[in-house]
Amino acid sequence: MLVNARDMLQKAREGKYAVGQFNINNLEWTKAILLTAQEQNSPVILGVSEGAGKYMTGFKTVASMVAAMIDELGITVPVALHLDHGTYEGCYKCIEAGFSSIMFDGSHYPIEENVEKTKELVKVCAEKGLSIEAEVGSIGGEEDGVVGMGECADPDECKAIADLGVDMLAAGIGNIHGKYPENWPGLSFETLEAVKEKVGNMPLVLHGGTGIPADMIKKAISLGVAKINVNTECQLAFADATRKYIEAGKDLQGKGFDPRKLLAPGTEAIKETVKEKMELFGSVGKA
Ligand code: 13P
Repeated sequence: MLVNARDMLQKAREGKYAVGQFNINNLEWTKAILLTAQEQNSPVILGVSEGAGKYMTGFKTVASMVAAMIDELGITVPVALHLDHGTYEGCYKCIEAGFSSIMFDGSHYPIEENVEKTKELVKVCAEKGLSIEAEVGSIGGEEDGVVGMGECADPDECKAIADLGVDMLAAGIGNIHGKYPENWPGLSFETLEAVKEKVGNMPLVLHGGTGIPADMIKKAISLGVAKINVNTECQLAFADATRKYIEAGKDLQGKGFDPRKLLAPGTEAIKETVKEKMELFGSVGKA
């Protein structure tokens, strides 16, 4: 069932668990995540970056594929189709294309401009029944081989954005996309507590879910995190399983190369990763 993310996140916030956002890149990933959510009776959010949207030929293709897959696979758990780190223009394209949720990442704008643009998009989403995520304080990550540390959000700026009526807020608390470096100091729970103090019951979003130790994940959930994004871990699991399959020489079929067989081990590996995360986040059985 394609829904916006509002209710599932409110329930998660109240029930002290988090809904996983798993990013999709193609048909196999989408199918693996949807089937696992159904098996685990868990709500789920499918994340689509602008790059992944482009790769899949455009947001309309993605929205049509997801809607058809939910129907043909008989998926009854709540599924939100969410734009990940959207630009202002990208948000409008996804609203048009039939997404049920968007993230407007205005964290690189001056706070006044972030507020203005977020406010406008909150209004459009409310009219059309979509949920919306905003970001304050940039999330670190690797760029040109250099890993930038995550910036910590200013709690007052978080309140200014939360008060605009967004459904979920990504606040930087030292989290980073991709693998965490050896010298990573860990999540700043001090920042998280200060943000929670200001924004009350607003569901908070933790980006960079790959490689955060389980105890930190649990503590973050206890402090108001209701959505956790995972991408890199699925990519690594997919790549590793595919590499092993090729190294074992199994892709050489008698009748020639079979893409369905080649992609099957990676797809299974994604299912395993998603299942583990849903267990860790506590969303199993919460559909
Ligand atoms: P990872 O790639 O570190 O799992 O982060 C995913 C994410 O936050 C997508 O927005």
